[in-house]
Amino acid sequence: MCGIVGYNGTKRAVDILLDSLSKLEYRGYDSAGIAIRDKDIEVFKSKGKLANLKEKIENIELKGTVGIGHTRWATHGEPSENNAHPHISNDGSVTLVHNGIIENYQELILKLEKHNYKFYSDTDTEVLTNIIDYYYKKYKMGPIDAINRTMVRVRGSYAIAVMFKDYPDEIWVARKDSPMIIGQNKDGVYVASDVPAILKYTNKVYYIDNLEAACLKKDQVIFYDLNGDVIKKELTCIKWDAEAAEKEGYEHFMIKEINEQPDVIKKTINSYIQDNKIDLARSGLTEDILKSFKQIYIIACGSAYHVGVCAQYILEDLTRLPVRVEIASEFRYRNPLLDKKGLAIIISQSGETADSLAALRECKKQGVKTLGIINVVGSSIAREADYVLYTLAGPEIAVATTKAFSTQLIVSYILATEIAHIKRKINKKTYLELIKEIQTLPDKTKNILDNLTKSIQKIANKFSYIHDAFYIGRNLDYAISLEGSLKLKEVSYIHSEAYAAGELKHGTISLIEDNTLVIGIITQKEIYEKTISNLVEVKSRGAYIITVNPNDLDVSKVSNFTINIPETNKYFYPSLTVIPLQLLSYYITVSKGLDVDKPRNLAKSVTVE
Ligand code: G6P
Repeated sequence: MCGIVGYNGTKRAVDILLDSLSKLEYRGYDSAGIAIRDKDIEVFKSKGKLANLKEKIENIELKGTVGIGHTRWATHGEPSENNAHPHISNDGSVTLVHNGIIENYQELILKLEKHNYKFYSDTDTEVLTNIIDYYYKKYKMGPIDAINRTMVRVRGSYAIAVMFKDYPDEIWVARKDSPMIIGQNKDGVYVASDVPAILKYTNKVYYIDNLEAACLKKDQVIFYDLNGDVIKKELTCIKWDAEAAEKEGYEHFMIKEINEQPDVIKKTINSYIQDNKIDLARSGLTEDILKSFKQIYIIACGSAYHVGVCAQYILEDLTRLPVRVEIASEFRYRNPLLDKKGLAIIISQSGETADSLAALRECKKQGVKTLGIINVVGSSIAREADYVLYTLAGPEIAVATTKAFSTQLIVSYILATEIAHIKRKINKKTYLELIKEIQTLPDKTKNILDNLTKSIQKIANKFSYIHDAFYIGRNLDYAISLEGSLKLKEVSYIHSEAYAAGELKHGTISLIEDNTLVIGIITQKEIYEKTISNLVEVKSRGAYIITVNPNDLDVSKVSNFTINIPETNKYFYPSLTVIPLQLLSYYITVSKGLDVDKPRNLAKSVTVE
């Protein structure tokens, strides 16, 4: 959802801003823009991807060492150059980039119009720019006063970087409910929506909290609270390495991240399992705390929700606690009735998804303990949750998640095994067997990547023309069908649906015709035959069947193309079935010639509702 960057230092700002923006393009790519301060502030913007902006300014000499930049995911106003950021106040005193949504912008327009402000764009951001300008001129008390008054006056979410014409050596920033980090090294101070944007320059960052502002000078950052008082903050060291945010020879981030999965799931396993024992102590989750929960809620969005659906089956079966999984955007508005002895698990790669964050706050408000399963250290959900279990996926750049998804699954297996053990729902032998099997998953994943990639690529090329696909399965196979189907539609733009296999006959089967692609996931032994019967039903209506199933299952009678995966414990199949489904989506998309890392209309981190 929009990416913002800024730099104030001793190097040419334009180079750093364009480079940082290229790392943030996954947040939005409807338009891009930069403002560079030399003597005056110069603004350049372009519709579409960052490449268009680069082309526009390639022959312009921009020497300034202070600047801000933006890559946009349109909310208010169509994607156009006019609506692109940075936005400028009426007389050019304030130049601003913004990530978020200003909810009361219409009321603010009326206020500003009374004071003769005019608007050239359709954006809430231009309104925000002029509100800052209005307070700046009205009270004449400088940037922090104008920003703080604005924060009190506006409703919504924002991370902003602002340049004031009268303060040539400073960038001002502020945030509420939208992500922002500030980095520093000997060459200057950096600001960005997300860590990968500045990782190449520094791994030392400050976290700025809600309703705080900061002044970025060349060699110093001064933080302020809403009263305008200075607050002290420490630099934190980020453990991600810069190469992890580069393509490193791969054609796309998505395939690079698919191939990183054996490694990142191993890292995640090793951080929680040592000497055949699960240790969650670092998260603050002690045995007594884990024992005390009577109910589990899982809340998430997108693919993280699909991890939640898998985790629901596993946690409920293993721990015998009631588990309810919900989509965060639904949860937050349904006035949920929560058991105070429950545990709310929020799953999120970014830790910034607006609906998931709001759901977390609702749980806390109702006195329910919260656990974040989070990838980005220091993100809002990680900071606000009572307990955090980090996934060690490293920076994920492709919009469609793969490696973060897989590490979230791993954490949910570990958590389920540990709670089941502590609650004595499984004996020591089963506990050790489950741990041992979890530890085999990195190698089994690698085995799938090594042995199946070529054949999946081949079959994928045959399916680039299709309009529809259906993914079916039962139980955990249904859960992973949801993810397979989302993966396909989000990157390839092929309509696809996931269906609980037993539910097909209640409507969806009427869509099956000659050569409709149906992907059957068949890993759960007790219900093999039932899913196979459902596949026979669609095959007899003309469907082309691909199955994903363990080596030991003979599906030759029903399957037109079989993807054999290694055997594992019934709970852990999602980790193995998802790999071929990711590869299938990736290669179908590549064969269609689409931009697989940046699918249209999507953003990786959804920080607005
Ligand atoms: C976006 C991404 C998905 C992700 C979802 C939730 O839609 O494209 O890949 O699953 O947001 O994001 P989160 O950061 O909360 O996991």
